[in-house]
Amino acid sequence: MKILKICIACLCLASLYSFKGQQIDNQKEMNTENKVIENIMARRSIRKYKPEAVKRSVMDKILECGINAPSGMNKQSWEIRVLDNPATISKLKEMMVKANPNTDAAAVEGCFRNAPTLVFVANDLSYDFSAIDCGLLSQNIMLSAWSLNVGSVCLGSPIRYIKNSPEALQMLGFSEGYQAIICIGLGYADESPEAKPRNKAKIKYIDNKVSNVKIISDQIKGDLRYISATPSGVCSKQVDLVLKGDIIVEAKFHGGCDGNLKGICELIKGKRISQIKEQLEGITCGKKTTSCPDQLSLILEILN
Ligand SMILES: Cc1cc2nc3c(=O)[nH]c(=O)nc-3n(C[C@H](O)[C@H](O)[C@H](O)COP(=O)(O)O)c2cc1C
Repeated sequence: MKILKICIACLCLASLYSFKGQQIDNQKEMNTENKVIENIMARRSIRKYKPEAVKRSVMDKILECGINAPSGMNKQSWEIRVLDNPATISKLKEMMVKANPNTDAAAVEGCFRNAPTLVFVANDLSYDFSAIDCGLLSQNIMLSAWSLNVGSVCLGSPIRYIKNSPEALQMLGFSEGYQAIICIGLGYADESPEAKPRNKAKIKYIDNKVSNVKIISDQIKGDLRYISATPSGVCSKQVDLVLKGDIIVEAKFHGGCDGNLKGICELIKGKRISQIKEQLEGITCGKKTTSCPDQLSLILEILN
């Protein structure tokens, strides 16, 4: 019995240790090079291409990555058609122009952004999550393409035009019960567009500590930003910050463990917001699920 208890204790300690190890690894992975994240963040929609189509051997790999996307109940509720012959693509455009007489021909022709390789994806109309399956497949295609130096653009407008052309739909030849849902243009990029801004305010953690933190003043004087905020659930009552761009120039806690907090404020001077946010996030104090440093990381999170 005693041996059993010792074994259980050892197992608990080992799992605790490996959990902590995993947390440290996560931190390391985020701080240092991470090819997957780099690829996701660097991908851009490409709308100018070199004329040559993507090599079939490369396309094979990209499409294999596509169908390795998750799908509801592994139904793989998609069908894929690839066009990379310029004559076939021209024929398709002709059919689409003919079927959309009320739309400017240049707009119909231009809807593929001159991508030399086109992938059409169709969803299974009998499955309610099929559109999601197709979206995930498409993203796998675009991200794997980017990682192989192939540019891409997700194209919705060709679907609007092709719907009016039974001839063009026949050319794609999707099975009964499937409907073209998205097109992906691919090719070797002839431009390097900048990233478009993303709206972080669309992300909300529900019942999160962030919602209790309040910014009580936020003023810019010259190149400095002066912020006062009230933390929540900790001994300190207010935090004052002076920032210069993304650098912390000055920090001061009101209340709380005076010496420790003065020490922290001294240590974070001159450091980047992103670094401090990551380092202080999740620190607890006694039995609390938060702490003054953790609250500071939440305040920095709101400011970012
Ligand atoms: C469902 C969907 C439809 C899109 N349709 C078009 C389109 O018809 N033409 C186009 O040029 N870009 C299209 N895009 C690309 C978006 O404009 C692009 O992803 C967005 O502006 C963000 O830019 P980024 O991909 O470079 O990050 C589409 C993207 C999605 C997800």
